[in-house]
Amino acid sequence: MSVKVIVGTQWGDEGKGKVIDIMASRSDVVVRAQGGDNAGHTVVVGSEVYKLHLIPSGILYPDCLCLIGCGIVVNPKSLLAEIDGLKARGITCSNLRIDPRAHIVMPWHVLIDRYSEELRGKGEIGTTNRGIGPCYMDKSERSGIRFYDLIHPEVLKEKIEQVGTVKNKLFTSIYGKEPLDLKAIYEEYTEYGKRLAGYAADVSVLTYNAIKAGKEVLLEGAQGALLDLDTGTYPYVTSSHPTAGGFCVGIGLGPTFIDEIIGATKAYTTRVGKGPFPTELFDEVGENIRIKGGEFGTTTGRPRRVGWFDAVIVRHAVRVNGLTSLSLNKLDTLSGLKTLKLCTGYKLPDGSVTTDFPPTIEELADCQPIYIEMEGWDEDISRMTSYDQLPQAVKAYIAKVEELCGVPVSNIGIGPDRAQNIERA
Ligand code: IMP
Repeated sequence: MSVKVIVGTQWGDEGKGKVIDIMASRSDVVVRAQGGDNAGHTVVVGSEVYKLHLIPSGILYPDCLCLIGCGIVVNPKSLLAEIDGLKARGITCSNLRIDPRAHIVMPWHVLIDRYSEELRGKGEIGTTNRGIGPCYMDKSERSGIRFYDLIHPEVLKEKIEQVGTVKNKLFTSIYGKEPLDLKAIYEEYTEYGKRLAGYAADVSVLTYNAIKAGKEVLLEGAQGALLDLDTGTYPYVTSSHPTAGGFCVGIGLGPTFIDEIIGATKAYTTRVGKGPFPTELFDEVGENIRIKGGEFGTTTGRPRRVGWFDAVIVRHAVRVNGLTSLSLNKLDTLSGLKTLKLCTGYKLPDGSVTTDFPPTIEELADCQPIYIEMEGWDEDISRMTSYDQLPQAVKAYIAKVEELCGVPVSNIGIGPDRAQNIERA
């Protein structure tokens, strides 16, 4: 038995969905513990494409228990849309469970997310507009509505009246907007509660019992290390902790239960939203990578910003997560480029060099990337089935990533399909 974690090492979208899907096929339990429907995991099975937002990727395996932990913020409307979409494709979702402590994204959260972004103007964060930040704000402020409340109409009624009245004051007096119809919200959300009630279960207990019973448990990360509320590029971050420690609090599970922590890493770097990005490419090379790599947001459809591989970022992820290995994904996207650049450190305004990711975006904005160059490869590697088949230049690139980041590459992604993956012993 083992407990494995998969987290993103960059700004999210590192190809976690596919790696998680492969690992989920060997897992008895898959748990998500932070974020909400801001996440987007794409899983490709032959000609079928599944875009998952809230539901753990293990859902495609009927015998795999899929858990939504207490650290998740659940939008019941999008969760039900996801469940209905999967059911229509023959996936029952009877193996899904939701912790009663998980917070609910209410309509006011989505509106506050949008209005706050509008008010920020040029200083907007570039959120996914899913109400994630405002929902976590209410959780910290202790006025949140939880999954338990959603499935108990009398509790829900009282909470909607209490919290909704305060939100309506905010809408009318601060944002200058119309108040929300709380009765209509209650009616709509009670219906959601009725449909979701059967999924309630204590995820901390289920996870612990599975570990004690010797089961294979996979903890599925969303987003990435640089979107972490504390150790990411604040304020251009999400409102949760997409780092390994986030699983402990987002499930209710002690850190000593975790055996392996795998960091999903793109062979280059991307980000959506705003904020400094030292290795960002503004030229044709960047545009080619964006198009070839399909670098458009799963949740928002926004074009992603693209740049060279940045070892300073991934080393940061190694440290804040305690990574034991990397899954180096989308290597096939780099095929055909004559020369590849990897960032090894940053030059600071005073001329000194740092190899540690700076704590603030103000300092990051002043960093100039220092590159080494490597020879590219022309071969189409997307159908290769073993490490030995890979061209020498690809092997050299992988070895350089390992050397710069200080952890082994245990898995190599060479295309979107489950089969386009090479595991190293
Ligand atoms: P929020 O999570 O919607 O509040 O957005 C905050 C920041 O996190 C924005 O820059 C988003 O684009 C980014 N973000 C949130 N979820 C993801 C994700 O799954 N992949 C990549 N970026 C994300």
